[in-house]
Amino acid sequence: MKVNGKHFRTIWVSGKDKKIIRIIDQRYLPHKFVVEDLHSPDEAVTAIKDMHVRGAGLIGATAGYGMYLAALQAPGDVSFDRHMEEAAEKLKASRPTAVNLSLAVDRQLASMQRGRSASGKRMIAFKVAGDIADEDAGFCKKIGEIGVTIIEELSRKKNGNTLNILTHCNAGWLAFVDYGTAMAPVYEAHSRGIDLHIWVDETRPRNQGAGLTAWELENQRVPYTIIPDNTGGHLMQHGMVDMVIVGSDRTTCTGYVANKTGTYLKALAAKDNGVPFYAALPSTSIDWQIEDGFAEIPIEQRDPDEVRYIEGLCEGQIKRVLLTPAGSRAANYAFDVTPPRLVTALITERGICNPDRKSILKLFPEKEKRE
Ligand code: MRU
Repeated sequence: MKVNGKHFRTIWVSGKDKKIIRIIDQRYLPHKFVVEDLHSPDEAVTAIKDMHVRGAGLIGATAGYGMYLAALQAPGDVSFDRHMEEAAEKLKASRPTAVNLSLAVDRQLASMQRGRSASGKRMIAFKVAGDIADEDAGFCKKIGEIGVTIIEELSRKKNGNTLNILTHCNAGWLAFVDYGTAMAPVYEAHSRGIDLHIWVDETRPRNQGAGLTAWELENQRVPYTIIPDNTGGHLMQHGMVDMVIVGSDRTTCTGYVANKTGTYLKALAAKDNGVPFYAALPSTSIDWQIEDGFAEIPIEQRDPDEVRYIEGLCEGQIKRVLLTPAGSRAANYAFDVTPPRLVTALITERGICNPDRKSILKLFPEKEKRE
């Protein structure tokens, strides 16, 4: 996507030095556009853990490059594989919910097995990290092309009058390598001239909606309005939302959708008001191993200070202020799980399907377990 007319991905290899990975440091958006250099796997772990990068696809791509940086540091002797196993463990522990992370790390470990020497393995790690990033961008582009058909249909039903779409958190290009998931069909529809308006949930406590989705939409010139997280239900009751579209950090092969906390409440309100609720996700966010989304998806609990404090621009400086009584306890469950009965359909890179095992496997038959 473009920032001030210049094309960017969210992660790339430095043009000056292949041993440096560059990321957009999202902690400073929307106020400052900062690019950070990653030189080591530990820096990749910090970037994921402290949310310099975030969003399932981008976390996966960063982990892929983190493994490449680990391979560069690994000794060229028999301890190479052990070094890589240790790096893999650290990366996997950096954030628990997005399944793209472990998928990327395991893919790197498995691919490097093909290398016959440390330098061969390093070359493989570089290639695989690039493949993971390119695939993520490719999948998201397809999701945009497939998802736009739903928007076109709804717009036709409204005779081309403004279509109001509600989204939660940030599932735009910043959460992936490029294009995004929930926002990819929106960008595609906008480029096709469909009249759209996006309701953007602010998404407490980290405000990915107010800070990141709004910044993206502003850059792409898509009309939007930021709303407090609790407003969606009211808007739906008054016919002001035609469709909800969100991303997902992990979706089970049975159709349970884990996404930023608060998504479930939007899905409930959508069901109650007959508003279609879509989750857009690449197959790299599908967990093929687990079935019970409530019991088995690990829900990250983050620092309560993210709830107690809020950050913003004050006289040109980014500042953090305390919102709550000084001694308040706070809980910070970062994700929730929406059950399939509340999901109208999933939008993937291979097509649109019902949120159930049979329909998902019809799109991805190679994932069928063969005993
Ligand atoms: O905690 P984050 O910002 O990494 O959360 C991930 C998300 O951006 C969302 O949950 C999003 O809606 C899904 S897109 C990967």
